[in-house]
Amino acid sequence: MVRSSLLWCLLVSTCLFTSSSAQAPGFVSLDCGGAELFTDELGLKWTPDDHLIYGETANISVSNETRTQYTTTLRHFPADSRKYCYTLNVTSRNRYLVRATFLYGNFDNNNVYPKFDISLGPTHWATIVISDASIVEVEEMIFLALSPTISVCLSNATTGQPFISTLELRQLNGSMYYTQFEDRFYLSVSARINFGADSEAPVRYPDDPYDRIWESDLLKKANYLVDVADGTMRVSTAMPVDTASNDRPPQKVMQTAVVGTNGSLTYRLNLDGFPGFGWAFTYFAEIEDLAADESRKFRLVLPGQPDLSKAIVNIKENAQGPYRVYEPGYPNISLPFVLSFRFAKTADSSKGPILNALEVSKYVQKSDGSLDATVIADVASLYPSAEWAEEGGDPCLPSPWSWLECNTDTQPRIVTVKLSRMNLTGNIPSDLGKLTGLVELWLDGNSFTGPIPDFSRCPNLQIIHLESNQLAGGLPSSLAKLPNLRELYVQDNLLSGTIPSGLLSKDLNFNYSGNINLRGSGDKRKQLGVIIGSSVGATVLLIATIVSCIFMCKGKKEMKKKKASAELINHPLPIQRVASSLSDAHGEAAHCFTLSEIEEATKKFEKRIGSGGFGIVYYGKMKDGKEIAVKVLASNSYQGKREFTNEVTLLSRIHHRNLVQFLGYCQEDGRNMLVYEYMHNGTLKEHLYGVVPRDRRIGWIKRLEIAEDAARGIEYLHTGCVPAIIHRDLKTSNILLDKHMRAKVSDFGLSKLAVDGTSHVSSIVRGTVGYLDPEYYISQQLTEKSDVYSFGVILLELMSGQEAISNESFGVNCRNIVQWAKMHIDNGDIRGIIDPALAEDEYSLQSMWKIAEKALLCVKPHGSMRPSMSEVLKDIQDAIRIEKETSETRGGVSDEFSRSSAQSSSMNMMGMMDLAGTENFVSIDDSVLHPTPR
Ligand SMILES: *[C@@H]1O[C@H](CO)[C@@H](O)[C@H](O)[C@H]1NC(C)=O
Ligand SMILES: *[C@@H]1O[C@H](CO)[C@@H](O)[C@H](O)[C@H]1NC(C)=O
Repeated sequence: MVRSSLLWCLLVSTCLFTSSSAQAPGFVSLDCGGAELFTDELGLKWTPDDHLIYGETANISVSNETRTQYTTTLRHFPADSRKYCYTLNVTSRNRYLVRATFLYGNFDNNNVYPKFDISLGPTHWATIVISDASIVEVEEMIFLALSPTISVCLSNATTGQPFISTLELRQLNGSMYYTQFEDRFYLSVSARINFGADSEAPVRYPDDPYDRIWESDLLKKANYLVDVADGTMRVSTAMPVDTASNDRPPQKVMQTAVVGTNGSLTYRLNLDGFPGFGWAFTYFAEIEDLAADESRKFRLVLPGQPDLSKAIVNIKENAQGPYRVYEPGYPNISLPFVLSFRFAKTADSSKGPILNALEVSKYVQKSDGSLDATVIADVASLYPSAEWAEEGGDPCLPSPWSWLECNTDTQPRIVTVKLSRMNLTGNIPSDLGKLTGLVELWLDGNSFTGPIPDFSRCPNLQIIHLESNQLAGGLPSSLAKLPNLRELYVQDNLLSGTIPSGLLSKDLNFNYSGNINLRGSGDKRKQLGVIIGSSVGATVLLIATIVSCIFMCKGKKEMKKKKASAELINHPLPIQRVASSLSDAHGEAAHCFTLSEIEEATKKFEKRIGSGGFGIVYYGKMKDGKEIAVKVLASNSYQGKREFTNEVTLLSRIHHRNLVQFLGYCQEDGRNMLVYEYMHNGTLKEHLYGVVPRDRRIGWIKRLEIAEDAARGIEYLHTGCVPAIIHRDLKTSNILLDKHMRAKVSDFGLSKLAVDGTSHVSSIVRGTVGYLDPEYYISQQLTEKSDVYSFGVILLELMSGQEAISNESFGVNCRNIVQWAKMHIDNGDIRGIIDPALAEDEYSLQSMWKIAEKALLCVKPHGSMRPSMSEVLKDIQDAIRIEKETSETRGGVSDEFSRSSAQSSSMNMMGMMDLAGTENFVSIDDSVLHPTPR
């Protein structure tokens, strides 16, 4: 898809052309990463792209061939899931040529050749694959402008960082390159060749007033103009050639040609972008002085296309004389990737064929883009000075703006708008109500004033967050009519009036507290709502005081109510439910097993299935057949009764399908025991690099599903419990797998209260080498982000099948998976860390990248730079979606789950179960603790 040009004429000081003529109108020449305006030797005026708010600039120094040494600049962008766009002004209904060039020059000192995509608006334009640091890759597209701007975007880096050297826009004239398909197709230029050229240098501006680049046929590159027939001669003339109109090749191109003196001209070349339908034209001019009795007649021979060979070129007749251009061609022809063609003289012709120039372009179908493009552009235009409003390009394609999510339709719709805490003022843009596919709207924490707009045209809306603004007026009753609404947060605004009764009777997470003038309407139940709602702060305090150390999670009651529902709500308990779960908190105590019950179930602690710093785990089977795991705590592991009681109280409040279920406890004979559900398939650890044979290790999609399960469990601890629970010892041996290979997080022995209202709690540093958050280690301040760090390490283990700490696997001076993976990922070398046990056709690099990038964010040195578990979960789900989509197209691989689960459940994992900590458990004075050794 990429044409390359060895000669970087743009900045090479040896380019000979100078021009004083004024630059043609409609030219834009951006020197990406440049610092100043300048005019080059060709007379092209270059402007820096310093208006761009994204990306970084870099200087490169490339030694071209042997002699010319020059420096130039580029702009590079992060290799993330975003797109980075240039927006150029155009005049609607005019045709343009847009050209982007890429000279890598090892700008990042990585010597990893980047690969990424470019798009024109929502349309995929090309995949840029750098294969030589000093070769310029060139892409050209001819298009009819249909709107006042176009955007060129870089995205989807699969290796290295996306970058761009120059971006040029050239307005074409009149009907140049008109095609009957131009409303629906662009023309991507594959070949534009000057035959018989006098040097390797291309012909362009000012010889070509439109600055098309006519490549020399002397250029040496792979699969370019080979299989040349014997007897091919180069001819040229100094005589003027009448090109009749400017849209033909410039005179300089027509003044040279090749002639087949033996009767034939043959060539073979690769056509980037093909096979497909294209536009192909040839240009002929008689530039040899033929005697009166001489003739030049020939026909085109294309293998497999006999029909095309019928037309005869009689150059003098067709062009109506010598030194005039004749340009036969095919506005729509099907061409292969490897094009072989021949011009053969007719029997009655005295001269062999001649060829001056050739142009081939491929039709690229335009994407229509998001259906919401206009509406959301109107919204963004209200915030002209905001960075997020200037991302450019289509809101959804090829990747969505950073504050949007879109569905996967070919004409995508926006499903999520996330503009929380963006300092937005004024009214909420009413146009948001025109996003008919909207599912989630996050506008909380801004300074919006005025009324809540009408969302009655958004029937899919599920989640609305408008809290902490200064919104006034009433709650629109239309909100109650949204059929899918399940979360409505409007607390801490200036709303007033009566709450529509439909909202109170709906099954809804509804928080409207902190709106002093907002009232319920009448009946008792609703009044309760108002009381609770309008004094939320006090209620929280009150409850916190009453319950003191008791943890409250969305408990059993709700679980039962929503048993069938697969989805657990990820947000803190809405206040109305806090009130109702008060009684639960008192009524629901942990089940107390008797010692004799336990002894009977475990056959007097016969079968040991795991051990760790906190004690030994035994297998048991209750009378009713229920299998259990009994953790007998080592006597020194708890300070005393109080701590044990705390844990038991905590454990009995935690219910989530991705957390190992706590069944009860036993405290007799001075022994403390915890009883959990038994997990048949052991720990994730042994499935990744334990006793499971390599060829039976779990596949990538299953690993992603395990990550998703675990992330859900942790997210629930962080956000579903009040106050939040920090796990503190996440690792692959604390992620257990059930019969169906669904993952659950285990071992809350280390969990501590995250005191509500403060962001951290301090206690002795605990954790496991390799998983321990370095910031927590240094500061001893524990936050949810410490769990995020550990989870990032787990993601890296899932990708690589490597242990978090290893003396051998990571090369010299590196024992730590984080350091090792970061080095590879930063270098774009993702393959270098992918578990060799994963077959290459069973995962997509795209989903690997998604996880790799998220994992690196999770292990950032500072907690504030790490994402929340909810964000991590979202990316894992995206990766699963990508994986499912690609495996559908791969076909046959999507039964990964059933296959691996069947295998694994047939294995006996019991001996390896590691429910309590591990041998790696350390205390703070352990000198090898430092997670990133230098
Ligand atoms: C070219 O011709 C093919 C076959 O006749 C047709 O399907 C196609 O729509 C035409 N145009 C383009 C731009 O491919
Ligand atoms: C909001 O404004 C504050 C104070 O001016 C600033 O520090 C912060 O970066 C702004 N946030 C955004 C998202 O613009």
